[in-house]
Amino acid sequence: MLPSDPALRDQRAAVITLDNPPVNALSFAYCKALLETIEVAHGNDAVEAVVFTGANGLFSAGADVNDFNAEIPPDAVTIRDVIAAVEASVKVHVAAIEGNCLGGGLELALACDYRVATPEAKLGLPEIRLGLLPGAGGTQRLPRLIGARAALEFMLKGSSISAQRALELGLIDEIAEASAIERATVLAKGRKRRVSERQAFIAKDLPAQAGPYVVAQAHKMVPSEENGGVAAHKLIDAVQASIELSFPFGIARETRFFDELVRSKPSSSLRHLFFAERELAKIPGVPEAEPLPIEGVGVVGAGTMGSGIAIAFAQAGLPVIVVDSNDEAVDKARQTVMGMFMYQVQKGRLTQEEAWKRGQSIRFTDDWNELAGADLIVEAVFENLDVKRDVFRKLDAVAKPSAILASNTSTLDIDALAEATKRSDRVLGLHFFVPANIMPLLEIVRGKATSAQTIATAFKVGKTLRKKAVLSGNAFGFIGNRIIFDYLREATALAEEGVAPARIDAVMKAFGFPMGPFAMSDLSGLDIGLAVQKARGAEALGRTNVLERLVQMNRLGQKTMAGFFKYDKSVGKGREPIRDPEVEAIFADEARKSGIAPREVSDEEIRDRLLGALICRGERLLEEGVALRPGDIDIVYVYGYGFPPHHGGPMWYAQETKVASRA
Ligand code: 3HC
Repeated sequence: MLPSDPALRDQRAAVITLDNPPVNALSFAYCKALLETIEVAHGNDAVEAVVFTGANGLFSAGADVNDFNAEIPPDAVTIRDVIAAVEASVKVHVAAIEGNCLGGGLELALACDYRVATPEAKLGLPEIRLGLLPGAGGTQRLPRLIGARAALEFMLKGSSISAQRALELGLIDEIAEASAIERATVLAKGRKRRVSERQAFIAKDLPAQAGPYVVAQAHKMVPSEENGGVAAHKLIDAVQASIELSFPFGIARETRFFDELVRSKPSSSLRHLFFAERELAKIPGVPEAEPLPIEGVGVVGAGTMGSGIAIAFAQAGLPVIVVDSNDEAVDKARQTVMGMFMYQVQKGRLTQEEAWKRGQSIRFTDDWNELAGADLIVEAVFENLDVKRDVFRKLDAVAKPSAILASNTSTLDIDALAEATKRSDRVLGLHFFVPANIMPLLEIVRGKATSAQTIATAFKVGKTLRKKAVLSGNAFGFIGNRIIFDYLREATALAEEGVAPARIDAVMKAFGFPMGPFAMSDLSGLDIGLAVQKARGAEALGRTNVLERLVQMNRLGQKTMAGFFKYDKSVGKGREPIRDPEVEAIFADEARKSGIAPREVSDEEIRDRLLGALICRGERLLEEGVALRPGDIDIVYVYGYGFPPHHGGPMWYAQETKVASRA
């Protein structure tokens, strides 16, 4: 790792390349080797400066998250030891950053005297997403470098920023247009200037007295400790320490917080989700297949779903043709598309020009023949098997032979759709969630004839759309909706036993869901719920006629301002559920007719029965092979149905708490 390039040797800078494929994770084992190399460089009098850089197209993804799953051995060499060696040395250190520079990787860069990055570099401290805080000095050095206010925003969001933004914040010293190492070796001739020796400040435009205000505001902005906010509050406390304490005391506090968090349940749940997400595209039994190129997309149907799907593809830079013969629907969809891109301009996410370009990349037509050039066509018409079969027949006739035909059905049989075509190997389900351009989940539904190449292409599409794509077998409701039916049925059963819907919702909100089961039903529509129940037959029918009665009363949910709850335009813009004694009376009346006696039910029972319903169905789907892995179900529930991520998803929660056996 010492300089081989004579030009570098002349400058007496030792270049140490982080090289631990695939992402240069700074595992304990790798840190041991790295520390030895650093010590060699430090012990060499000819070396005046050390330049860190990374192989494999990135600087480093930070600590090896696998190391946190076991007790940390007392003799483990960690990033902290590496950084301590850098800090103690008399030599100048420079970070030459290319690609991703994340977590402990960025903390190593922060311990250097200078940082230079290429324009494409991405810098981030994503620890909060793993229920952690930066634990190798990040919370102490960053407020000294860019100010506490900016540091808090950066670390609490956990998302990466561009080199340009990093330069504006003062996180890096320079952007190297050509070679980062070359510029780094020039900077290495500068004087030593450790970030740790600086004074933390609040922001350039704020006096030191603003510290308590900035800290208090930050505490208000993040979720409560009970609701998954433990790491965020600790992170803010650590930044407060950077303002109030000397560097070594601040570091000691950060270390204590990190070590507590790494053993916390929320962090192990979030780490489980991190790895579950990376397993999703690994499909046992499906040989590695080369995905087909997708350069143009067709969408059939310009309704809410169709326009959302079109926007999602346009946002990913793909041209889209939307076919619909209903002028009214098309006009509305055009407005939705333009409104969406203008909103992004207002938010500063797109320039006027980019918004215009993206808007133009969606073309509406009533001519099916225009779909002939599309590589992928997604059907998003009315949820009815006959209607959809007809669409597939027509698509099969107009689409080019290589095109993949996908249905955005949420419940229907993919094989029945595939049979309407002569290309059943190229037919599958792509189940988007409303609004399709925002919701991060995509269910990929494999029919019995769907080819490995079609599946591989669908996963690539998922990646292009930046969605978490989960493979599901072709079974009623796939993974997500199949499980939610049982959950809603259990919620109804509890209400039939005399528990008020408002209380059931409150218990699930306290658990961490953004809304309870009854508010969720009101949002999706009681008429839809009833139609699905009827289509499903006897197995899905409830013990009482509550749902029928509410639908007969035109209580269809939020859209009619009444469902299980009532709604008032002046309360929460008509979206806030208001308890309705009339509905509770209907539950009581129907329960009496069906011979269901009211009983006392504890909050724990409400929670465990509802979670138990999710978990039991999840277990059945695994047995039936509809879902491949428990982690796949967890991803579906966290990213599609609002399951609180700090509980890791229903299957993880079951494993951690054994709740299923109590249900
Ligand atoms: N630790 C262990 N494994 C990691 C890892 C990490 N930090 N980051 C990525 N990997 C693994 C993935 O599990 C995957 O393994 P697999 O091939 O066996 O499935 C492989 O590296 C490639 O990862 P991706 O599939 O995610 O590759 P991408 O190219 O899509 O993304 C990335 C690369 C942007 C680096 C992304 O992996 C990422 O965001 N990684 C996590 C970064 C992170 O959270 N860092 C903070 C760690 S905690 C820390 O540093 C604590 C410190 O403050 C003390």
